[in-house]
Amino acid sequence: MSSKSLQPLRIGVAGLGTVGTGLLQLLASNGQRMAAILGRPLQVVAVSTRNKDRDRGVALDRLRWVADATKLATDPEIDVFVELIGGADGVPKAAVEAALHAGKHVVTANKALLARHGVALAKLAEGKGVALNFEAAVAGGIPIIKTMREALAGNGVRRVYGILNGTCNYILTKMQDEGLAFNDVLKEAQAKGYAEADPTFDIGGFDTAHKLTLLTSLAFGTEVAFDQIHIEGIETITLADIQAADDLGYRIKLLGVALTTDAGIESRVHPAMVPKHAAIAQVAGVTNAVAIDGDFAGDLLLVGPGAGAKATASAVASDLCDIARGLHLPPFATPSANLKPYARAPLGTHKGAYYVRLTAHDRPGVMAAITTRMGEQGVSLESIVQRRPRAALPGIGATPLPGAQTPVILITHETTEAAIRKALDGIEADGKVAAKPQTIRIEKL
Ligand code: HSE
Repeated sequence: MSSKSLQPLRIGVAGLGTVGTGLLQLLASNGQRMAAILGRPLQVVAVSTRNKDRDRGVALDRLRWVADATKLATDPEIDVFVELIGGADGVPKAAVEAALHAGKHVVTANKALLARHGVALAKLAEGKGVALNFEAAVAGGIPIIKTMREALAGNGVRRVYGILNGTCNYILTKMQDEGLAFNDVLKEAQAKGYAEADPTFDIGGFDTAHKLTLLTSLAFGTEVAFDQIHIEGIETITLADIQAADDLGYRIKLLGVALTTDAGIESRVHPAMVPKHAAIAQVAGVTNAVAIDGDFAGDLLLVGPGAGAKATASAVASDLCDIARGLHLPPFATPSANLKPYARAPLGTHKGAYYVRLTAHDRPGVMAAITTRMGEQGVSLESIVQRRPRAALPGIGATPLPGAQTPVILITHETTEAAIRKALDGIEADGKVAAKPQTIRIEKL
């Protein structure tokens, strides 16, 4: 077919925030080159946004403005509806549903929407024979969706894991490199615009969990099951943990990890210790990384910008290119009718080593009690360090001040989550610690 015989792909964009504006800039800059490759131009014909008058540094005069995103979704002059509003429910959900019902292709960066309603939307798209593409929803500019949906189709995936939230990685990196406290770095990340409008989504691990939900489905051909993910954020990580990790040869990263085990699928988001010389430990600042262990491809690691106008627009553009070429696959690779029910492994069955930081009372017999409880649960210790707090004690050999506390850091050999939890419950019940124990899983890489 000659390029002249093909019509432009007509696009409606809802949401002209960072990503929407980035998409218009990308098309202004690279549109001609893309048209030559695709044999047809990508043409934005209409947009919908709350704030029409904001200067975005990109020409909008030729575009039709549609006040209501849901109206734009069914506009007879568009072929593709691009949803860049964000949020799991309300207008974005209604607009995406309306577009699919009307037989429009949809491209979205909305991880929350897909994590919550992915299967229903995929069924709708498949029923209508249209695309529902979401490369921009996970890890920004890293082409992880296409990689998993297409390039790794010949593999059984054993595990997928990664650093999926730039804000958290930025905070942890700054704490590590500059010795800054959590709250101070969070304020800086907000000022720089990395964090979501509500930073709880980032630091509480929910943004990572939305993304991991989608990767889990792609990896294992299961239903999209956000509610089955175990989620812990980075709010409890202190400088003491960062420094202890460093001394022990580790870095702390907020990881999303999904793997198959004999007990079912383990899909979890939490701060994890990774060996400091591992490739993923070198991923610093707002950069994201996704690792996939394929049975034939081997262990892959994709690293790149996880957020930002340009990187995310690049992902949206790749989805539009597929649609312009007439390529579309089931959104979650497996036709939605064939997605398996999600079989969750209980967290208690998780196997791994642990870092534990206890704030122990500085009294005779405390250490013995701690090791006894660990031993009772079959938890074997690799190392145990009692650190003398620099300021708190009068000096080496002196009698501890009444009520003095001392940090005790333990590293366990491989055990189960159930065993470590029971041991720590016992230690707390014995009254040997003055604060809730800090526990960080050590990820086996
Ligand atoms: N707030 C997200 C992050 C943006 O920090 O990675 C991309 O989802």
